[in-house]
Amino acid sequence: MSITNEKLVPGALPASLQLTQDGQLKHFLDIEGLPKSLLTQILDRAEQFVTLPSNTQKKFPLLRGRTVMNLFFENSTRTRITFELAAQRLSADIVNLDIRNSSASKGESLLDTIRNLEAMNCDMFVVRHHHSSAPHFIARHCAPHISVLNAGDGYHAHPTQAMLDMLTIRQHKQSFEGLVVAINGDIRHSRVARSQIHALNTLGVKEVRVIAPGTLMPVGIEEMGVKVFTSMDEGLKDVDVVVMLRLQKERMRGAMLPSEKEYFSMYGLTEKRLKLAKPDAIVMHPGPVNRGVEIDSSVADGPQSVIMQQVTNGIAVRMAVMSMVMGTRAMEQQING
Ligand code: NCD
Repeated sequence: MSITNEKLVPGALPASLQLTQDGQLKHFLDIEGLPKSLLTQILDRAEQFVTLPSNTQKKFPLLRGRTVMNLFFENSTRTRITFELAAQRLSADIVNLDIRNSSASKGESLLDTIRNLEAMNCDMFVVRHHHSSAPHFIARHCAPHISVLNAGDGYHAHPTQAMLDMLTIRQHKQSFEGLVVAINGDIRHSRVARSQIHALNTLGVKEVRVIAPGTLMPVGIEEMGVKVFTSMDEGLKDVDVVVMLRLQKERMRGAMLPSEKEYFSMYGLTEKRLKLAKPDAIVMHPGPVNRGVEIDSSVADGPQSVIMQQVTNGIAVRMAVMSMVMGTRAMEQQING
């Protein structure tokens, strides 16, 4: 089962679509259904890329001769650019399709667009799309040698974001076991929250909490193995990790909230509220941040914030996933050599 909208819907992606017969990652579409060992492998590989000196000019030849196409049918700053940098650091050729100026705007279907791009000999599609499951559709219909990476589909999933969040948590906390993580805000419209919940549960945290007003809480979310809170003050008590989410107004139909001011007074993360969490709690946000709406600037820029570290980790995690889907042979040797 997976939650794609306001309610639970059946038909989660079979893990087999993402994995080769011997269990290697072929596409990266969804965290749901992937084993803990594979998530840990992604984190371990990403960590190898992170620990390189920040001023390194070193490029890895892992994707030399490969062509990656960024297909962003929705806006993006962090995700698109970090995918691009990740591909460049792996020595791939990368092309950004300018959707607004492409023939998609002349009515060309998604499948025809894909067929034409395939004819240009590409190896990987990175797809962000407003329709949940568009990356899965492409994965089912593209040529067998191509890998598809989901860069965010509708409300459904944002697996690389969740993995960069897991890497950031792992860098600050001893282990996932024993952690209490609170995800706060517009859960209903958040693909990030859905992927984080799957990742946190698979990695074995003690408790995942979701905190939101009733109008922004998806029906049936408990079935994903989370504790539901409508009070921020109760939900934040003694947590190790606080994840804040933006109000995704572009996805809201009708009035779901009284006003931003009132929302901030009830659900905004302030320094005072943060004191309810453990003293060493970290504050996360996938961006874009709306200061004064879901989070106060003093917290977003404060000592417990790891928001910029999340952005940096995005490059390493995307390098890890891209290198894994392109095959792992001789990989370790190249990374360490
Ligand atoms: C998120 C997204 O696009 O789903 N941002 C991101 O990828 N860093 C969250 C959001 O848009 O609020």
